[in-house]
Amino acid sequence: MKAALASRPLLWLVLAMPGAWILYRWAATPDLYGYGHAIGDSGDWAAWLLMATLAVTPLRLLFRRHGWTAWLMRRRRDLGVASFAYAAGHTVIYLVRKGSPDIVLAELSTPYILIGWIALALFVPLAATSSDIAVRALKRTWKRLHRLVYPAAILTFLHWVLSAFDPTVAWIHVGILAAIEGLRVWLQWRQRVT
Ligand code: HEM
Repeated sequence: MKAALASRPLLWLVLAMPGAWILYRWAATPDLYGYGHAIGDSGDWAAWLLMATLAVTPLRLLFRRHGWTAWLMRRRRDLGVASFAYAAGHTVIYLVRKGSPDIVLAELSTPYILIGWIALALFVPLAATSSDIAVRALKRTWKRLHRLVYPAAILTFLHWVLSAFDPTVAWIHVGILAAIEGLRVWLQWRQRVT
């Protein structure tokens, strides 16, 4: 069990499963599982993994003595990169569907699409500097650069709220994200002052 938990390839196999399932259903049963499902599910997984990444620090602060939070801290960058991979896949699904640069450019005037692109652009430098080498090379700048995750997360959830016909589910996720972030800020403040 310990060896399985320590294995990064195994973690990535698990993280890749929803993506493989989305691609398989889109390719095998396009009548039942079309573009609307593929774009929605890939966006959901990108957003869930982003939330999981952001939840790691408050969990660590809350349960410092528990070994599983140390494991989560070691795997936090993997979760973030997986979120980016789903966001990139989501974008590829969108580009395949639109099929022409003219349409893609024209749709930049739709607020939720533009916001999605800006969020993705903010995630690019974070994913590009996710390796151990980048962490070591950038030193303190790495931490400052990776604070970009917060505006990127806000834009992601704004993108979701604005894209949805019925934004109830999106707002529920905004509430969970706000709770995660509120808890993080409060725990960091409390542990600094006490
Ligand atoms: C390149 C920029 C992006 C484009 C063009 C784009 C496009 C889209 C489209 C067309 C939809 C479907 C809206 C509908 O239901 O009609 C959507 C939904 C969504 N997108 Fe994006 N997106 C982008 C970036 C992102 C990023 C970076 C994330 C997350 C990290 C994300 C997460 C979501 C989520 C969660 C949904 C809602 C899924 C649902 O309805 O369950 N998107 N996006």
